[in-house]
Amino acid sequence: MGTHLDQTFVSEGNWKPDLFAGKVVFVTGGAGTICKVQAEAMILLGANAAIVGRNPDKTIEAAKDLQELRKDCKVIACPNVDVRKVESIKQAVDKTVEELGRIDFVIAGAAGNFLADFNHLSSNAFKSVVDIDLLGSFNTVKATFNQLRQNKGSILFVSATLHYYGIPFQIHVGAAKAGVDALSNALAVELGPVGIRSNCLAPGGIEGTEGLQRLKRNVQKNIESVPLQRIGTRRDIAESTVFLFSPAASYITGTVHVVDGGLWHTGHSA
Ligand code: HXC
Repeated sequence: MGTHLDQTFVSEGNWKPDLFAGKVVFVTGGAGTICKVQAEAMILLGANAAIVGRNPDKTIEAAKDLQELRKDCKVIACPNVDVRKVESIKQAVDKTVEELGRIDFVIAGAAGNFLADFNHLSSNAFKSVVDIDLLGSFNTVKATFNQLRQNKGSILFVSATLHYYGIPFQIHVGAAKAGVDALSNALAVELGPVGIRSNCLAPGGIEGTEGLQRLKRNVQKNIESVPLQRIGTRRDIAESTVFLFSPAASYITGTVHVVDGGLWHTGHSA
């Protein structure tokens, strides 16, 4: 599979090479396109990383790819983790602390998605996505909370812009991601006093992602509607992730950081 970013993200980029040296990022959904590029950016800037996923092959392969990016960082795989079960995440947290020593940053990105119209969306299908996206995000914070509190850490949820509109065939995902935004906002208020920041990253259509493929969007047609006149890139996601975890964002909590070129303000959807 390989990685998307390379050394030029550091050598020709916007950030200090060792910005996250000595820090550890814990990434659920780390084998998926969005979360993997987030992990890539953090590792290239010196973070050690735990890649957490349900699918064992994909998770182990992603961790191997990521390790290749920077040899002086340590990347571990935590496969067979179902974010719907808090105990499952706790095991991954224990393994991470044992092998990497700490957790400073959490990316709660595990998500499920498929297109289904209301008439063909069963109660269990709706529940499955809400359980993975929303309950899974809650469980991820629950399991990492002691580490976050101890290290004055920072959480980044992966949200979406679907719920700003009424996107057909995405009822389950839109409802779940609206919940994720609400979860993040409330956590920002409750956990701010103990030094934990909580923000959401809300990608629009990002090229090369499973999300865009699944929505089967006509990317070229879409570009005309985007105020910034281009499709989002994985690098855009990487840059925003680094910013929100960096000291440059130390007074930023409880925000939903939309990376969609301004599209949602136009009333058009990705
Ligand atoms: C209708 C479907 C369906 C489909 C599954 N179901 N796929 N219904 N259309 N295409 C129904 C099943 O019939 C079942 O309901 C229920 O959903 C649960 O299905 P399971 O397969 O038993 O669940 P599970 O194994 O837990 O899998 C969860 C999943 C699956 C969400 C359904 O797709 C998954 O694991 N996805 C993880 C990977 C993934 O989707 N990544 C995409 C990330 S992209 P019944 O009633 O039959 O029991 C992304 C971008 C979002 O998230 C933003 C877009 C812009």
